[in-house]
Amino acid sequence: QRAIGRAACFTTPAEVEPFLVDFRSLYRGATPLVACPGSTADVAVVLGICDELGVGVVPHGGNTGYCGGATPSERGDEIVLSLKRMNRVREVDADNFSITVEAGCLLADVQQAAEAADRYFPLSLGSEGSCQVGGNLSTNAGGLNAIRYGVARDLVLGIEAVLAGGRIIDGLTSLRKDNTGYDLRHLLIGAEGTLGVITAASLELFPRPRTVETAYLAVPDPAAAVQLLGRLRIATGDALTSFELLPRIAVEFAVRHIPGVSDPLQRPYEWYVLCELAVPRDDPTLRGTLEATLGQAMAQGLLHDAVLAESLAQREALWKLRESVPEAQRAEGASIKHDVSVPVAALPGFMVQASAAVLAIAPTGRLVTYGHVGDGNLHFNVSEPLGGDRAAFMAHEHAIQAAVYELVHRFRGSISAEHGIGRLKRADLARYKGHVDLEVMRAIKRALDPKGIMNPGKVLPDLPAADG
Ligand code: MLT
Ligand code: ZN
Repeated sequence: QRAIGRAACFTTPAEVEPFLVDFRSLYRGATPLVACPGSTADVAVVLGICDELGVGVVPHGGNTGYCGGATPSERGDEIVLSLKRMNRVREVDADNFSITVEAGCLLADVQQAAEAADRYFPLSLGSEGSCQVGGNLSTNAGGLNAIRYGVARDLVLGIEAVLAGGRIIDGLTSLRKDNTGYDLRHLLIGAEGTLGVITAASLELFPRPRTVETAYLAVPDPAAAVQLLGRLRIATGDALTSFELLPRIAVEFAVRHIPGVSDPLQRPYEWYVLCELAVPRDDPTLRGTLEATLGQAMAQGLLHDAVLAESLAQREALWKLRESVPEAQRAEGASIKHDVSVPVAALPGFMVQASAAVLAIAPTGRLVTYGHVGDGNLHFNVSEPLGGDRAAFMAHEHAIQAAVYELVHRFRGSISAEHGIGRLKRADLARYKGHVDLEVMRAIKRALDPKGIMNPGKVLPDLPAADG
């Protein structure tokens, strides 16, 4: 309190409460202190003190993560470091197509600041109104536009970060080319706060989309969706920015639980794709190209029906349907979630095998497989049976996850495509990450954080007990 000011330290039970439970309520931690520094220098002061005392530090952004990465342990011996007061846009450089922001900026505020300068920041996710850039980078968020613009990592030109002990990395350049040795930026991105705290970032901007087409498609199956994906990419000169797959059940959930969401098509189909094309110029031909490609696909049996958004309101309604699926699934009761990726071409085969594997274990579980098929990322979720026994269903969680992850592994996929590891998936990481990879990760952790105070108990699996 003396070092960064009483106002920047939350200590009463009421003040610390909002920082103790993760978004999914999987964990409830305890802490004597939530520090909310307002500057990079103060973050350094906090990390310096904690390093000296050997106190763990849990960086905390918008608390929208799925893996408990921002929640302190139950022991109450770690402090939380909230970045929420560091929420300034430091610079928008339109000519350089870059923006420099502090870690506590809301993602939606970064998008808006870019737009105000007639530029575009493409990272987009359901939680963009409450998630913070520092968290987006620390978890290397993916989202809805990754097929065209990449994931969070791909949008970062430079970062400023504070390491354990309070040393500041001043890497806030906005260069496109800089081959001067190890790229520390990429070590900190996706490290979930285990190597240091990202305090600011310089991000890449793009020309603003001027022509946007949004289409909601009914397709026979995921294989047809993957075929369509390739065709649309080629036909439109890679104007595809999103390509999301939805099963019928997800649409039913959203219509049932989310006010204002309705089924865009007259009759039900088994599978849907929500896709978007965007180009940074006025292009009256884009619509025609889309229609021609879809017409051809329909003639060949790859497409049953299509709705093309005719207005901004209709476009927003289609996106609302997609973005409300996680909330709608929550309203249907307990679910067993998997955030996985496999190579795009292997998705249909993976889905067939993984669905069969899950139903062999829990025949009445309801498969709700949706996600960012354009980049191979599926939310392979299973909802509890209707009117079934929740406890009996959830008792299968471990077996179901093991079956799905074994298949993911066989397809050379990832067991965490975009939600990270946090506390939730450390054991899975230990099982599926390569032995050498884990060894190098531990070596890096030891080098940057020798006392192990940066977000302890997250990401890195515990070392296996020594034999004998
Ligand atoms: C999404 O794509 O909707 C989320 O990443 C998945 C989820 O919220 O479960
Ligand atoms: Zn997702």
